[in-house]
Amino acid sequence: MQGKILVVGSLNMDLVVNIARHPQIGETILGGKFYTFSGGKGANQAVAAARMGAAVAMIGRVGKDGFGDELRASADKDGIDTQYVIVDEREATGVALITVDAQGRNTIVVASGANFALTPQDLHTAKTAFANADVMVTQLESPLETIREALALAAQHNLRVVLNPAPAQPLSAELLSKVDYFIPNEREAMQVVGAETLESAVDQLLVMGVRNLIITLGEKGVMIVTPDGRKQIQAYPVKAIDTVAAGDAFVGAFATGLAEGMNMDESIQLGNVAAAISVTRQGAQPSLPMRKEINEFLGGQK
Ligand code: RIB
Repeated sequence: MQGKILVVGSLNMDLVVNIARHPQIGETILGGKFYTFSGGKGANQAVAAARMGAAVAMIGRVGKDGFGDELRASADKDGIDTQYVIVDEREATGVALITVDAQGRNTIVVASGANFALTPQDLHTAKTAFANADVMVTQLESPLETIREALALAAQHNLRVVLNPAPAQPLSAELLSKVDYFIPNEREAMQVVGAETLESAVDQLLVMGVRNLIITLGEKGVMIVTPDGRKQIQAYPVKAIDTVAAGDAFVGAFATGLAEGMNMDESIQLGNVAAAISVTRQGAQPSLPMRKEINEFLGGQK
C-alpha cells in the first residue's frame, strides 16, 4: 500500500564547506571544497519519504530567486507535489550555512527567509492536501503559530502526526498532546523542556503527555519511550562521513512506514536503515536513499 504523507515545513539551500576541525570563536580557518545542496528539514523529510515510495505533498515557502527555483525543481524531480510551495515575493529563499568536519560532524546556521513567512492562512489555502494525507510530518523551521494550526488541521482530518522538534524550542503540553510521534535527538529532547539530563527530559515529556517518544541517538541508535516502558534499538554500524540530514532520513522513512500500515518498531527499522545509509554519503538530499537501497542493505545484513 502506498502511504500518503503531507510535510509542512522548510526548504533551504545548503551552503556547505568541509573542514578539518571547527573554528574557535574569533578564529579564521581555511576550509576545503564548497558545495551547494538542496536541504531544509521539511524538504529533506519530504524527499526521504518520496524516495521510500510514499506519495508526498509539501506546504512551504521559497523566495522568488534562483535558490527557490532550484529547490522547487529538485523537489519536483523527486515526485513531490509542490503545488502548495508558495513563491514569496518579499523574502529570500532560506539558506543554511553548514560546516562538516573530518569526523562527519556538522554545525548548521539557518537564515530562515521565506520559511518564516509561512502563515496559518497558507495551510487553509492548502486544505485539500490535509484531506488527501494519512500522516502529517512537521518540524520547527516554520513559525510556531503555523505549526500549531497544522496540528489543529491534522486533527480535524484524523491524520497521524509526526513532529521533529528541530531546531528545538520550549513547547507546551497542549501542543505536545496533539502529536502522535515525537522525534527529537538527545539535545533537542532536553531543550524542549529545559532539562539538564536526558533522563529528566524523558520524565518531563511523559508527564506532559507525549505518547510515543522516539529519541534519535546517532550511532547509539534510537530510544523508544511510551507510557508502557522504554527500550533502545541499536543503529546499524557504518562509517559516517557526513551526518547532515541523518535525522531527516530517519523521520521521512519512519513516516513512510507508518503511512504504509507498519507498526512503530517496523517503521523505526526503516528509519534506522535510511539514516545509516545517509551518513555514508555527502550532503542533505543527495544522501537520502531509495527504497531499493534499503532492501539491498537489509538483504546484506542477513
Ligand atoms: O537537518 C539538516 C537540515 O537542517 C539542512 O539541510 C539545513 O538546511 C537545515 O535545515
